[in-house]
Amino acid sequence: KIPCLIDCDTGMDDAIALICALLSQDRLDLKAITTVAGCVEVDKTSRNTLNIVDSLGSQIPVIRGAEAPLQRELYVAISHGTSGLGDVVVPEAKRALQEMDAVDMIYRCAVECEGKLQLLVTGPLTNVAKALTRYPAITSLIEKITIMGGALRGGNMTQASEFNIWVDPEAADIVFRSGISLTMVGLDVTLKTELPQYVYEQVRAMDNPFASLAADVFSYMMRRNSLTGVSLYGSVELDPAHMHDVLAMAVVVRPDLIKTEPHYIEVELAGSCTRGMTVADFNDVMNKQPNVDAAVDVDLDAFWAWMLELLEHGPKR
Ligand code: BDR
Ligand code: CA
Repeated sequence: KIPCLIDCDTGMDDAIALICALLSQDRLDLKAITTVAGCVEVDKTSRNTLNIVDSLGSQIPVIRGAEAPLQRELYVAISHGTSGLGDVVVPEAKRALQEMDAVDMIYRCAVECEGKLQLLVTGPLTNVAKALTRYPAITSLIEKITIMGGALRGGNMTQASEFNIWVDPEAADIVFRSGISLTMVGLDVTLKTELPQYVYEQVRAMDNPFASLAADVFSYMMRRNSLTGVSLYGSVELDPAHMHDVLAMAVVVRPDLIKTEPHYIEVELAGSCTRGMTVADFNDVMNKQPNVDAAVDVDLDAFWAWMLELLEHGPKR
């Protein structure tokens, strides 16, 4: 099993990623879940995360992490509604968040796993950057970080940048320079994962609590396509039902679902209209070793089949 810590900003697609992670425990040894501000404020991402895992019967510790980016003011997304889960109602957890510093938890898990820990990060990279800064030795204790974030080309927050990296570019910069093996599951592939109607219908017809919650989340994501909200640049349509974070989660247990290319990538910090851009040195003009395996293609049929099988039958026995 892969020892894994999830760092997330739950969030609609984070919620589906969590459900799929809980159902993947034949392949994943989930050590803890830390939360971060991003889709919504950290109190809400923490509550959403705890309520989801608790309502699905899991005792995995959930720890509240950073409430703001390292240097920038927090900017929350509009596509997840004010609660972070749209109009989806999850029962209040019967337990509390684990009282501990999230950064210490990341370090403790890394030490306990003796170099084998993998991180799955589906929000801004604030907690991970703090862990790297407070505990520099952690770089040799983490086997791999799989990130939903960035893009080789394009953006969704701005023309140049993806939301998670844009929110806390200084944190992303620390992580991208860390030397830890990184898989970037960015918009180049995640924008291909808009939920097909047939997948929604099959999940809706399933009869188990994991699939029922997933169907409720999908339903809001599909309906929000026609809603508008006020973003950085004024009124816009909300995101379609892209499974950004779910694909990143899938890749941890099923790396064969994507094709990657090694690239040297830096995060733009200073640009006035390129803040948070993940700039890939395509033509090797900087003469640097690649620091990121960037996803460039996804086997969508296999991805939807993976998700449907998991939601219907759970972990393979
Ligand atoms: C990312 O931003 C968030 O809104 C989603 O949960 C995902 O992690 C996509 O850019
Ligand atoms: Ca997210």
